[in-house]
Amino acid sequence: MSKDNITLPAPFDAHVHFRQENYGLQTAVVYHEQVFEYALAMPNTNPPILNCTDVSQYNQAILKYCKRLRPLLTIKLTPETTPQTIHDISIHSSFQCVAAKLYPEGVTTNSEGGFTRPMLMPLCKALCDVLDTMQEMKWVLCIHGEMPGEFCLDREKEFLYVLRDIAKLFPRLQIVLEHITTREAVEFVQLFKNVNATITLHHLMTTLDDVVGDKLNIHAFCKPIPKKPRDREYLIRAATSGDPKYFLGSDSAPHPLSFKQCGCAGCFTAPGLIQKLTELFVEWRAVNRLADFVSDFGRRCYSLPPASYRIELCKDEWTVPGNIGAFVPFLANQKMKWGIVQPPIRV
Ligand code: DOR
Ligand code: ZN
Repeated sequence: MSKDNITLPAPFDAHVHFRQENYGLQTAVVYHEQVFEYALAMPNTNPPILNCTDVSQYNQAILKYCKRLRPLLTIKLTPETTPQTIHDISIHSSFQCVAAKLYPEGVTTNSEGGFTRPMLMPLCKALCDVLDTMQEMKWVLCIHGEMPGEFCLDREKEFLYVLRDIAKLFPRLQIVLEHITTREAVEFVQLFKNVNATITLHHLMTTLDDVVGDKLNIHAFCKPIPKKPRDREYLIRAATSGDPKYFLGSDSAPHPLSFKQCGCAGCFTAPGLIQKLTELFVEWRAVNRLADFVSDFGRRCYSLPPASYRIELCKDEWTVPGNIGAFVPFLANQKMKWGIVQPPIRV
């Protein structure tokens, strides 16, 4: 091994969209397979993952393309989810469903049927009953933290009132505020022992200027929308802080180009993800924190075992493809400084 190489405990992606068959599932899984030992698959597929049968079928669909990747499953919470749903899933050992995801209604891709503002302020009984059961069964609650009806740049900040209520009412429930984008969210995470946050590569790299400041860049358009330079600075500080409350959730979210052209939110960041993160952490003089951010802290939050293997990165210039089938990656046509020491990806 060259002395310049960097090895990392096998990473854990605490937030990824693998989609469904005929909508990028194979491509998405194969890219994650190259890097991650575990990945938490989001449930906002079409149709969504709502119950035990859905979880079991989705697990099988993902496993078809996995060699060493271990998928962790989630369900989408809706006003119809019951404590029984959580119990039914928990007794199964043929898959690992470890979390449920709360989507406020209409704030992002496939969030229809989520929780409306009146159901969140104050928290409705149906949701409280499910959260209570999740707390008892040691599930993790993942949250897309944006408040419906607010101005788009204020939605994350305004949702923190709901998060405060949940964190207070369920102090033993492990909560992950997903893909944070604001200074306020970074600071809020410090207030509650049971609140953690994922941070994406694209939010570490972009501000609103990168989306709409020049020509509209549809490939940087995602939810929550990237914010101001100052917010991005806070995200970088959190990701490199060595604080176990902040860890990687890539939110890699492929949409076919034709869907992106129709305005779908989501960045397909998997190709080049760990390579770019390595470059950035080196640039930020925080490479000693990279293993914590991409592997150890997420595992700790989800009570996963330590990495069972390591991946190795080497100095190696290569260019992210301009497209991968119908999908345009976030870093399309950009030069990477780091490569992964392993056979090339074939999809
Ligand atoms: O940009 C996003 N895309 N944010 C999300 O919350 C969902 C994701 C998707 O599923 O495309
Ligand atoms: Zn997501």
